[in-house]
Amino acid sequence: MSKQFDVIVIGGGPGGYIAAIRAAQLGFTVACIDEWKNDKGGPALGGTCTNIGCIPSKALLQSSEHFHHANHHFAEHGITATGVTMDVGKMVARKNTVVKQNNDGIQYLLKKNKVTFFHGRGSFVKAADGGYVINVAGATEDSLMGKHIIVATGSNARALPGAPFDEERILSNDGALRLGAVPKKLGLIGSGVIGLEMGSVWKRLGSEVTILEGLPTFLGAVDEQVAKEAFKAFTKQGLKIELGVKVGEITAAKKGLSIAYTNAKGEAQTLDVDKLIVSIGRVPNTIGLNSEAVGLKLDERGAIVVDGDCKTNLPGVWAVGDVVRGPMLAHKAEEEGVAVAERIAGQHGHVNFNTIPWVIYTSPEIAWVGRTEQQLKTDGVAYKAGSFPFLANGRARALGDTTGFVKFLADATTDEILGVHIIGPMASELIAEAVVAMEFKASAEDIARICHAHPSLSEATKEAALAVDKRTLNF
Ligand code: FAD
Ligand code: NAI
Repeated sequence: MSKQFDVIVIGGGPGGYIAAIRAAQLGFTVACIDEWKNDKGGPALGGTCTNIGCIPSKALLQSSEHFHHANHHFAEHGITATGVTMDVGKMVARKNTVVKQNNDGIQYLLKKNKVTFFHGRGSFVKAADGGYVINVAGATEDSLMGKHIIVATGSNARALPGAPFDEERILSNDGALRLGAVPKKLGLIGSGVIGLEMGSVWKRLGSEVTILEGLPTFLGAVDEQVAKEAFKAFTKQGLKIELGVKVGEITAAKKGLSIAYTNAKGEAQTLDVDKLIVSIGRVPNTIGLNSEAVGLKLDERGAIVVDGDCKTNLPGVWAVGDVVRGPMLAHKAEEEGVAVAERIAGQHGHVNFNTIPWVIYTSPEIAWVGRTEQQLKTDGVAYKAGSFPFLANGRARALGDTTGFVKFLADATTDEILGVHIIGPMASELIAEAVVAMEFKASAEDIARICHAHPSLSEATKEAALAVDKRTLNF
């Protein structure tokens, strides 16, 4: 006899566990199945985000930034710090503690919300009685029956053809977050979000870092002005970024690896490294889901096909997060999870794809929401632009971090904000104001007329909004 639930969620990452909590809040009986194991074989809820993604990467970025500051910026404050060393083992152990706190926190949240958790792999067995039978294969075997199924099985790192991850020398994000020592020479393939964040961590700790990027443009999805400023800042920090390369054979050398590639001029090159991180995007994960048993439709990329409401081709089966179309971001997965739970309850779940913020947690941080200047040009939208440099912001000067700017793009006629692009200190936090403004269809003038605390970095946001109307006060 199967255990009965109103809603069964397969996957306990940000898409899945949040969907499970929201469904339980709405009064459903809910099961959440997740197969991730910690190093003792126990559950480790939170998916890629918590275990080998957002959280551990930010922990290492923080540690490495402290190290960098102690070595390079304390002196300007009059602080002498000599003989500063980094214990990589301790840094990684701290990161593991942060991860575990999050794993345990999510387990507690499921319990608090009366979500029944099953540790193991969930797979479709068959459709039955207006619902679906789901098998859980873990330490024990369970059979569940659910009226609604939410699939939130996430994504996996994409490997280079012919160079599978061994997590020793050829690393995915998993191995990149577990290095036990600073590699002397580190190579990365792909100068996207992971390439830049992970490259920054190990560069700050002393690696000689080279990033090989296939495309001729740097950060093509980012506003061109921001991408240009970022490229300048990263190369100044010593990250070597080669654009427009074609990666060829990767061979094991005596100690590390040798990467053959062709540079943008078409010249044959070789890069010798101790470790290689491959960060060329991620692929949706439906491994072991047995989607064929019920005829769940996948696209040519292996993503589950869903409509705008996250409904699949099967009645009562929904899918959210990295396993479906759209940006692979934790907060996008969460928003979809909440919306689906609400739709199951007959409510109007809401996800606004136009106001999903992006953040790259490098130094300087990069954050944006809405359209870039190049997108507005392509779309033929008449717009006004205004920007304000952190160099002219008192708080940024006091912090000692004046790189970058805030840039507003607003409709030429209505003044509605169409995009906000930030590169600089705490861009990750500053972007929230722009998201709220865009969600409420604010104009640039609305932001310009709002009182912002002094001295704060957010004054740069206000000034950039004023700049749209060519009336900055402090620049
Ligand atoms: P996942 O988090 O991948 O969770 C899926 C879960 O389902 C996993 O626990 C998996 O074990 C489980 N599962 C899969 N199949 C089954 C099955 N059949 N049965 C049971 N369980 C199953 N995003 C951000 O927004 N901000 C960031 O700063 C950020 N940093 C990142 C850094 C790195 C290095 C990486 C790799 C990603 C980062 N991301 C970031 C992306 C973010 O991690 C993902 O977008 C997010 O985790 C997607 O959530 P999800 O719930 O869809 O899937
Ligand atoms: P990405 O899509 O951000 O970047 C991949 C890069 O690799 C691109 O620039 C692409 O042109 C390049 N590339 C692809 N194939 C190549 C090849 N064969 N040779 C050379 N270059 C090649 O993917 P990434 O960095 O792997 O991250 C995956 C996803 O994880 C991100 O898109 C994002 O959704 C998520 N993520 C989000 C973070 C955040 O929000 N701060 C942090 C890290 C990851």
